[in-house]
Amino acid sequence: MDESNAIVIFGASGDLTLRKLMPSLYDLYRKGRLPKNTRIVGVSRTEYSDDAFRDHVEAGVKEFAKASYDTKLWAKFAANVCYFRGDLTDFEQLQGVDRMLCEWEDGRIGNRLYYLSVAPNLYEQAVANLGAADMVHQNHGWRRVVIEKPFGQDLVSARELNCAIHRVLDESQIYRIDHYLGKETVQNLLVFRFANTLYEPVWNRNYIDHVQITAAETVDVGHRAEFYDKVGVVRDMMQNHVMQLLTFVAFEPPASFDAEALRNEKAKVLSAIRPIRPQDVSASTVRGQYRTYRDTPGVAPGSTTPTYAAMRFYIDNWRWQGVPFYIRSGKALAAKVTEITIYFKRPPHIMFPMPAGTKPAPNRLSICIQPDEGIHFSFQAKVPDTPAEMRTVDMSFQYEESFGALTIPEAYERLLLDVIKGDASLFTRSDAIERSWQLIDPILESWQTQYAPPLYFYESGTWGPAEADELIAHDGYHWTHDCGLEEEG
Ligand code: BG6
Repeated sequence: MDESNAIVIFGASGDLTLRKLMPSLYDLYRKGRLPKNTRIVGVSRTEYSDDAFRDHVEAGVKEFAKASYDTKLWAKFAANVCYFRGDLTDFEQLQGVDRMLCEWEDGRIGNRLYYLSVAPNLYEQAVANLGAADMVHQNHGWRRVVIEKPFGQDLVSARELNCAIHRVLDESQIYRIDHYLGKETVQNLLVFRFANTLYEPVWNRNYIDHVQITAAETVDVGHRAEFYDKVGVVRDMMQNHVMQLLTFVAFEPPASFDAEALRNEKAKVLSAIRPIRPQDVSASTVRGQYRTYRDTPGVAPGSTTPTYAAMRFYIDNWRWQGVPFYIRSGKALAAKVTEITIYFKRPPHIMFPMPAGTKPAPNRLSICIQPDEGIHFSFQAKVPDTPAEMRTVDMSFQYEESFGALTIPEAYERLLLDVIKGDASLFTRSDAIERSWQLIDPILESWQTQYAPPLYFYESGTWGPAEADELIAHDGYHWTHDCGLEEEG
């Protein structure tokens, strides 16, 4: 029997639809990857006619998928885009969406992807209403629900949310999205680690000295201040994106490229991360706020919401015992860069003569998630025409050089397609979400007690508070940023 596929975006008048979802869906269509009989339905409270909505999202595609925009192709794509003015918290209006979809499905097998691009406090009610409106049964086609981050505010609320949505949906219908996992460079970490012979044997405490993960942004909180002030950098970036990067670096090789195998390993490594105890929080974490943050409209007077954080974690298992993982993230910093740096141990003995008190720099592997996507490996080489002088040199892999321009798709492309295919490998399972809150909660709670480190202020356009440098300098290291940037110090 013929199948139809509806992609229903709730909260369709928002920024995410304009900047990411529509450009990604358009690109999927352009590449011939959307299944046939696909219809995209935008739903939100804003008044739009079908045409006005199409014009609105066309502007987004022109801006955010500029290189691939084509007037004729857009017209074909747009013929499958429509709009329904409605509020998903209003049960009757939701039934209206259902009637519209049923009419279009016209007795065909009706697969449906519901994308909740709405305020996080509406997730629970949205799912309950979808259930009550009988829109999630899978008698005549699959029904899948994509839930954006943040998933909960803490462990208790994440558990409550998991419980509430499990009352309506089977775990296999739930796709908790973290767009970092849709990034090519993040997926390449799996290939890099598990499709090469060279790295896995040294990917452990015997050879790796420490790991740094940086997710830095130049933008400040801008017009999102009201939302951001309640969330802060730890909930906005660390509990999800940065923790996910850490799991990809640290987890054990899954036996197969299968959603459950991958998600089991992720959950296992998250369970092995040592929680930071209240009495250690000021030695293991740094919190900062850019100096002009409190002047932003929407920010509470005297707000202590951190816009920067740095932390040190350890993973208590055989592979990683004793290896520090330093993570940092912030807004209004000196560069937009997401990067993972693996520092290897120094050779046990250097037979070459070196000036007193000096040592060769350790091997360093820098995985550039964005921008300047690629991988750099730095090692020692002999300077020509010297007896045995050494210098650090670099071996580089650059996406653009190897694969040409325009090969890196928007993260949402892959993730939307995975939902359509029913592949949940790159989505977060309920246990992993809860485990990462278990690690983050004690830190946020301790930051409200006498154990809290001071809130340090930093100038916009810098690398954050100097105390974050001290956190890592205390252990004899310094933060590195190799990706697209001059080396520091
Ligand atoms: C979002 C955060 O999840 O990720 C934003 O809410 C942040 O605050 C964004 O700016 C960063 O994403 P990317 O892909 O630009 O690194």
